[in-house]
Amino acid sequence: MLSDKFLWGGAVAAHQVEGGWNKGGKGVSIVDVLTGGTHGVDRKITDGVLEDCYYPNHEAVDFYGHYKEDVKLFAEMGFKCFRTSIAWTRIFPNGDEKEPNKEGLQFYDDLFDELLKYGIEPVITLSHFEMPYHLVKEYGGWKNRKLIEFFVHYAKVVMERYKDKVKYWMTFNEINNQKNYEYPLFGYVNSGVIFNQEENPEECMYQTVHHELVASALVVKEGHKINPDFQIGCMLACVPLYPYSCNPDDMMYSLESMHDRYLFGDVHVRGEYPSYAYKEWERKGYHIHMEPEDAKILKEGVVDYIGLSYYMTNAVKADAVVQGNGLDGFPGSVPNPYVKASDWGWQIDPIGLRYALNLLYERYQKPLFIVENGFGAIDTPDEQGYVEDDYRIEYLKNHIIEMKKAVELDGIDLMGYTPWGCIDCISFTTGEMKKRYGFIYVDKDNDGNGTLNRSKKKSFEWFKRVIETNGEDL
Ligand code: BG6
Repeated sequence: MLSDKFLWGGAVAAHQVEGGWNKGGKGVSIVDVLTGGTHGVDRKITDGVLEDCYYPNHEAVDFYGHYKEDVKLFAEMGFKCFRTSIAWTRIFPNGDEKEPNKEGLQFYDDLFDELLKYGIEPVITLSHFEMPYHLVKEYGGWKNRKLIEFFVHYAKVVMERYKDKVKYWMTFNEINNQKNYEYPLFGYVNSGVIFNQEENPEECMYQTVHHELVASALVVKEGHKINPDFQIGCMLACVPLYPYSCNPDDMMYSLESMHDRYLFGDVHVRGEYPSYAYKEWERKGYHIHMEPEDAKILKEGVVDYIGLSYYMTNAVKADAVVQGNGLDGFPGSVPNPYVKASDWGWQIDPIGLRYALNLLYERYQKPLFIVENGFGAIDTPDEQGYVEDDYRIEYLKNHIIEMKKAVELDGIDLMGYTPWGCIDCISFTTGEMKKRYGFIYVDKDNDGNGTLNRSKKKSFEWFKRVIETNGEDL
C-alpha cells in the first residue's frame, strides 16, 4: 500500500501553460524567442522576438488568466499537490535587478493561495527553462559565473516570500539533459548557451553546468536557513539506457552511457564530482574552473530528495550505426525490439519505471519523487467535444502498477507521483499543442486557434478514482 501521505497530483511548467508573456511586468524569457516545430523539425531560436514569427509559449493555454478555473478542476480530481515553476522573468524581468517585480510576486501569492484553499500543496521548480533572455544577451547565460549571484538572489526572494506557502522545491529541471551538448535545444533551455557554437562545446557544457550545480547547492543552503522544514530537491531526466544485448561490449557501453545520465545527479546528491568525471576531464585535457570554496558549497548543499521525470528507456549498442537524434535517442541508441514507441518516437516501457526507481534508490538512498511521467498523444474530440483517451489511461495505469511494485516489493521511499501536463500545454521539445498529455482538454491548435475552453477527458474521472483509492483502483 502507498502511504496515505503519498502526493498524487499533476505537473506543468510556467512557460508551457501560463502565457501572459508580457503581462504583469514580465520580462522576455528564453522560451519567448522559441518558435514552434514538429517531430523531426526543430524549434528555431530567433534573435529577439520577431514580428513575423509565431511563438507558441506567448499565450500557451493562458493559465495566467484561467488559473482559478484550472485549480478548481485539479481539486475536483483530488490532487494533493500541483507541480509548477515560478517564471523567473515575472519576478526579475531582466534577471539582474535588485528589486523584484511586485506584480509577479503577487501572481504567485494568488496562485498558491488558490491551491492551498483546496488543500493542494504547491511543488515548485525554480528554473524550468525560463531564464531571462537578457541574461543570455548581456552575460552569455550560465557560462558566466555571475549568473550564480542572480539566481541565488531570485531564489532567496521567492523562498522568503512563500516560506509559509510552499514546502517542496526543486532547483533546475532536467539539468542532466544538457550532457547531450550536441543538441542545441537542451543547452539553450537549461543554460542559455548553444554549446555547439562554442570553441569546445563539451568543455563549455561542463563549465556551465558547474555554475548551476554551485548555484543549486547555495540555494539548498539558503533555503534551509529560511525555513528548516523546506524539502529541496534536484530534478533529473531519468532515461535508463539498457544494453542492447548481453555482449560484454554492450554491457560496458550501457554502463558508460549511464555515467552521462548520472553525472550531475551525483554532484547534487553526494556533493562531489564522481571519479569518472575527473578521469574524463584529464583524458580530454579539460580545465573546469572551480573557485576554492566550491567544493565546500557542493558538500554542504546536497539535496533532500530527487525529483525525476520518466518517459522512456533507450537501448544502446556499442557498435551502433544508428545514432540517436538527441530528442528521442542518445548516442548509440537503437530501437528496442521488445517495446513500442509513441508517435514522437519515445519508447513506452512501464517496467522501465520500476527499473529507473531502483537504479536511483540503490545509487543514492534518498527519497524519490516522480514529478513527470505521461503519454504525449494526438487527441481527437468527438462531436460533443469529448476525448476518450483510453490510450493515455492504459499508459498511466501500467506505469502506476510498476511504480507500486517499486514501493511495495522493492521498498523504495517514494514521495509522490505527478503526471506531466495534467492540463494540455505546449510541448517543450516541439512547441506543438497537438502533443497532448492532459486529463483536461484545452481547445487550441498548433497555429494558436481555439477558444481556450477547458473540458474533461475520459482520463479525468479515471485519475480521480485512482487518487480517491490511493492507487488501488486502476
Ligand atoms: C520534460 C520537460 O523533458 O518532458 C517538460 O521537463 C516537457 O518541460 C516534458 O514538456 C515532455 O516533453 P514534450 O516535448 O513532450 O513536451
